[in-house]
Amino acid sequence: MATNNHEIFKAVLEQIPEGMIIVDDNDTIIFVNRAAEEIRRIQADQAIGRSVVLCHPEKSFKKVQRALQFLKKDETKTFTRMIRDTVKNRYYENTYTAVRDTNNYIGAVVISRDITERRKIEEEKTAYLQNLEEKVAELTGKLQDLFISSMTSLVNALEAKDPYTKGHSLRVCDMAMKMAEHRYGVSQKVKEVELSSKLHDIGKVGIREIVLNKPEKLTDEEFNHIKEHPIIGEKILMPIEKLKSPAKAARHHHERFDGTGYPDGLKGEEIPESSRVISIVDTYDAMTSARPYRPPMKAEKAAEEIKKNLGIQFDPQWGEMFLDLFYSGSIG
Ligand SMILES: [Fe+2]
Repeated sequence: MATNNHEIFKAVLEQIPEGMIIVDDNDTIIFVNRAAEEIRRIQADQAIGRSVVLCHPEKSFKKVQRALQFLKKDETKTFTRMIRDTVKNRYYENTYTAVRDTNNYIGAVVISRDITERRKIEEEKTAYLQNLEEKVAELTGKLQDLFISSMTSLVNALEAKDPYTKGHSLRVCDMAMKMAEHRYGVSQKVKEVELSSKLHDIGKVGIREIVLNKPEKLTDEEFNHIKEHPIIGEKILMPIEKLKSPAKAARHHHERFDGTGYPDGLKGEEIPESSRVISIVDTYDAMTSARPYRPPMKAEKAAEEIKKNLGIQFDPQWGEMFLDLFYSGSIG
């Protein structure tokens, strides 16, 4: 009966789809099943009785010896490695298990499982996910662009309702971009200044229209209400990833270089660069536009005002550049 059982065990091990090689405690191969013959391109009758190390190509001897040493350590039970057969272009997962008789190492078994199909599915899944991520990123970008153009339209619509402010943000944007291009050439900075200047007054959508379009002098309460627009603007733009910098630029476009502006009283270069640029052209455009209570100021007079306020209200370096571009007829 014992012999029969032994035969059954042997037949089972011979026929399982996984490759199986068993070595004794001297690293001598004592069993190779059919699948292992196929996977490793060896013959059982030639391999059995030989050292498992010698059944490998010479360049792998050291590695195989290290693996065997590792298996013989008391704490090692099992480990797996992924092996690629470059000839057949198939992938195998080899599981190496130390076999112990109570405490003594008596040999090891290596089971090779063909995982080519599983890997193929994983590769397809990864490619699919990558593709999906790219599509989501593309769509997110498009959505953000849509948001930006909606916000730009909103600013323009808001300004168009009042003949005194009509086209203000577009003019500010045009001048701010000329300045940024003059300094940076083709650069992401220019794009940032463009978005920031186009949207700097978006917060005015949160200001009561009666206050916004009031032709007479504003009361303190009304003026304080208007002064909320940079903060409202930041809140509107902040949730959009692409508008993080323009959101900050909107918050700080009424700061003054000497620190006496609002909302945070930032000074000098603490003020974002886009805000320092916007501040100059925003003021220039306001001065040269008509108001219900005054005619538009002459361009040269407005440029004089900018000059007088360099280092006080305006960044002197950006201000000098504005004046350069103004006197050379490139701006304003
Ligand atoms: Fe403003």
